Amino acid sequence: MESEAQCKECPDEGKAIVHVDCVTHKYPDGTEGIHNMCFRVFPQEIVALCGPNGAGKSTLIEHINGLMLPDVGRVKVFNKNIDRSNVAEIRKVVGLVFQDADSQLFSPTVIDDVMFGPLNLGFSPAEARKRAERALDIVGMKDIGKIPHYLSGGQKRLVAIAGVIAMEPKILVVDEPTGDLDPSNSRRIEEILRSLRDEHGISVVIALHDMDMAARLADRVCIVKNGSIIAEGPPREILYNEELLTSAGLLPPTVARMFGELDIDVPTDRRPLTIEQLMAFVTAKGTKKKA
Ligand SMILES: Nc1ncnc2c1ncn2[C@@H]1O[C@H](COP(=O)(O)OP(=O)(O)O)[C@@H](O)[C@H]1O
Ligand SMILES: [Mg+2]
Repeated sequence: MESEAQCKECPDEGKAIVHVDCVTHKYPDGTEGIHNMCFRVFPQEIVALCGPNGAGKSTLIEHINGLMLPDVGRVKVFNKNIDRSNVAEIRKVVGLVFQDADSQLFSPTVIDDVMFGPLNLGFSPAEARKRAERALDIVGMKDIGKIPHYLSGGQKRLVAIAGVIAMEPKILVVDEPTGDLDPSNSRRIEEILRSLRDEHGISVVIALHDMDMAARLADRVCIVKNGSIIAEGPPREILYNEELLTSAGLLPPTVARMFGELDIDVPTDRRPLTIEQLMAFVTAKGTKKKA
């Protein structure tokens, strides 16, 4: 009966569209990738999973679209338990972009690659092409006839994201999408994820250890350590908790560290998360000194 487990800390909330309910997953060699993990996703939010290498982010993520199934506990998507019989259905709803974009691209051209998902879902070639073009337009990728293998790392990542968007999922899960990208490509990916939330109503789950990006992007932050979520909440609370972050092998975002140096007391909900918000405090402080 272990698969019916539901822990007290993690009540089944009607509003959640994903509920990872006390899940433990053991790899064949005996390593526990996640342990008693509780995690939820709410409609139209960007939730960041922050934790060091080996914390369990990818293991958690692969449970959200049924790529892995729990040994203990259960995962519900739109109130439906994921099991072997419905993983194909679940993958229409939850799109997953792997950390390694190369592994996701295999067709002779970019457009073929992005059409692959919709064709696989049973759409006609004309409809699949329409969806693929729409998805490539969202990510701003123009070279649709190119061979994916010859694209730059950033372009590959955009095509991999387009391939998932073309299936029009309700939830997009991205595993460390910017680890190997330059700042301008990282910013581009941030903008795409925001527009998916704001213009397409999609919920985004993003695994990260770039805390600056978490500060700019996340509506909610979960700290992952040793296979569990040890804290979660609004970024202005979690990302300013230096003790918590260092205990998880992370550092507060640059903006939070700089704001600390300014030694200004503000309520939690006014703490800056972006350089622009920080600069407003710096300017105000400078003006005050001169006056
Ligand atoms: N295929 C595997 N076989 C055995 N252990 C694994 C495997 N994949 C991951 N692990 C282990 O599971 C834990 C969580 O890993 P992972 O979910 O990949 O963390 P993260 O994505 O946060 O870096 C780590 O201890 C890792 O070594
Ligand atoms: Mg990982």
